[in-house]
Amino acid sequence: MRVRVLGAVELAATNGEPTLARWPRVRKLLAVLLVHAGDIVSVDRLGDALWGGEAPIDRSSAVHNLVYRLRVIVRSAGAADTVRVVTRAPGYVLEVDGAEVDSTRFAELVETARDRLHEAPQVAAALLDEALSLWRGPAFAEFADEEFVRAEAGRLDELRGAAAADRVEAAIALGRHDEAIGMLEPLRAADPLGERPRRQLMRALHGVGRSVEALQVYRDYRDLLAELGLDPSPELRELEAAIIRHEPSIGWIGPTSPANNLPQEPGELVGRADDVIQVTDAMRRARLVTLTGVGGVGKTCLALHVAAVVGAEHPDGVWLCELAPVGASSVAEVLAAALEVRQRHGLTMTARLAEYLREKRLLIVLDNCEHVTATAAQLVDALLRSCPRVRVLATSREGLDVDGERVLPVAPLETPARGASSPETIAGVASVALFVQRASAASASFELTADNSADVAEICRRLDGLPLALELVAPKVRSLSAAEIVARLDRRLQFVRTAGWIREQRHRTLRAVVDWSHQLLDERQQQLFERLSVFVGSFTLDGAERVAGGRLDPAEIADVLTELVDRSMLGARPGRGPTRYALLETLRLYGRERLRARGWETATRRDHADYHVELAVAASTGLTGRDPGRWVKVMDQHLDDLRAAHTWAVAHDPDLAMRLSAALFWYLEPGTFSEGVGWAERAIA
Ligand SMILES: Nc1ncnc2c1ncn2[C@@H]1O[C@H](COP(=O)(O)OP(=O)(O)OP(=O)(O)O)[C@@H](O)[C@H]1O
Ligand SMILES: [Mg+2]
Repeated sequence: MRVRVLGAVELAATNGEPTLARWPRVRKLLAVLLVHAGDIVSVDRLGDALWGGEAPIDRSSAVHNLVYRLRVIVRSAGAADTVRVVTRAPGYVLEVDGAEVDSTRFAELVETARDRLHEAPQVAAALLDEALSLWRGPAFAEFADEEFVRAEAGRLDELRGAAAADRVEAAIALGRHDEAIGMLEPLRAADPLGERPRRQLMRALHGVGRSVEALQVYRDYRDLLAELGLDPSPELRELEAAIIRHEPSIGWIGPTSPANNLPQEPGELVGRADDVIQVTDAMRRARLVTLTGVGGVGKTCLALHVAAVVGAEHPDGVWLCELAPVGASSVAEVLAAALEVRQRHGLTMTARLAEYLREKRLLIVLDNCEHVTATAAQLVDALLRSCPRVRVLATSREGLDVDGERVLPVAPLETPARGASSPETIAGVASVALFVQRASAASASFELTADNSADVAEICRRLDGLPLALELVAPKVRSLSAAEIVARLDRRLQFVRTAGWIREQRHRTLRAVVDWSHQLLDERQQQLFERLSVFVGSFTLDGAERVAGGRLDPAEIADVLTELVDRSMLGARPGRGPTRYALLETLRLYGRERLRARGWETATRRDHADYHVELAVAASTGLTGRDPGRWVKVMDQHLDDLRAAHTWAVAHDPDLAMRLSAALFWYLEPGTFSEGVGWAERAIA
């Protein structure tokens, strides 16, 4: 190419030597003519562009002079065939063969490359490399800011940016993620608010297994935009979600993934974006991270997705070790089998594992430790001490209590707010999304509609957003409407039973999943847990003491409550007032069943009712006293239990029911008077 504008404006001689270096004003003339190549540029206009306000006295002869000089240079450069400055009133036209102008050639290459980007990324990459190599500096260099060239220089710069981005795209398509990452750094700096470089960087980082960083790129960008009051585009949010979920479209563990024995087709992860980020963050700070939570809450599911996200950071692999089916004595053996490590004579299995893992950089996913906590803890402790680059991600219904452990409780999926019921408002809520997904898988005709959405929301709330429960219940849509399912939720422990062969025993029924945890409690814990099931809402330590049955002293009750919380059998919400505890509904129904089987239900419910009568009496005094607001709040918190206590009392102890309705008179009067009357009437009837 003889004519160059991608950098300083130049005309190259046949041997490639620049010819205009000494002639800045001729360069400028060529630049103006080039911007308007093919069109007449009047002498006046040329004069303006060349000299601005400081035009020589005889402007047109000065222009003619320069044109003459340009023609001489063109001729001596041997370019007269391709570059012609033609006189045409009222000025001049530059006629130039496009193939001889670097900017034209550049634009053609970029366009051709774009057409091939998807089918032939290799070709596109080569074309783009050629195109980008034409650039020697900013377009039109020293004239870039001049009025006559600004628009054209801007257009070329933009095209260059797009070409660089396409080049990155080609690298990603070719799986050359490291190359892409290298190219993206300057692109991102040049376009700090641009979304495309971020999107590409996320994909490239994910492609080399640096998914955690990919998610960080997203978060930084989101925060940056938030400062400007903006949001990332839906596409970028979708990409973030896809990385978290490992959608096949962007690859489940990249081609560079290390050895692993993770399941080939993990199901999609619904919701949980923040959890994935939180766990990966924790894993950067601690070598043992334990996900705890009630059975079926999704610990294993989350751990497997996180393991895949951080997989490539562990060149020696990611190894899943399933402890659920094994006894304490064989924990080390099962881990050895997962890692394919053979026993060696004269070494204990733990010592052998430590020896094998000493230099390894790998991640062990220790799944379901709760029934072998002590043994698993000892093993993990020993391995972490002697193997500095081994990391462990454990799941368990309780923490392992090992030095340096980070315990992350996994909460159930978000449920629709009370009162939220339209399909639009609830469809995006994670528990609803999971239910709808599983229900439609079971029955092709199932859809979330205005007719069933209120009941679906109710199902999700009553199941506390527990994924396993949602999964077990959802297939019922084959034979029942959502409303009919709601009506049967009280009997969920019997009603929910799934086609067994796909699941491990522990997850076939809701009863089995709770059984597994319940068996791991000691007798004191079991008894208190069962007695607590008489509460339908949340309760305080006070309340727990009142229904504990007199066998435990108060100090011990506080301890056992903590133990139940640690074992994920009880939720605790510390706040400004006394800590409030609550059972998930599934656990409560289970506890109630056990309590009944022991023959303790009546006595415990009486304790529960007595306690609430006392509370209501205290409140009736408090409500007419100095701080009625506080008492209204206390009563509000206990409303469901007050109602349950009343219902029980009506059936078993009418006097108690009367006292309760009388004490509640003040509280229920404003607004809920009719309910108060109703309660009293039922007590009398
Ligand atoms: N976020 C989620 N998206 C989709 N499915 C999920 C999600 N969380 C859990 N599940 C599904 O719910 C079921 C129970 O989850 P999971 O096995 O992970 O529970 P868990 O907490 O490990 O239970 P356990 O303590 O009994 O081992 C599984 O079938 C799992 O695939
Ligand atoms: Mg599990």
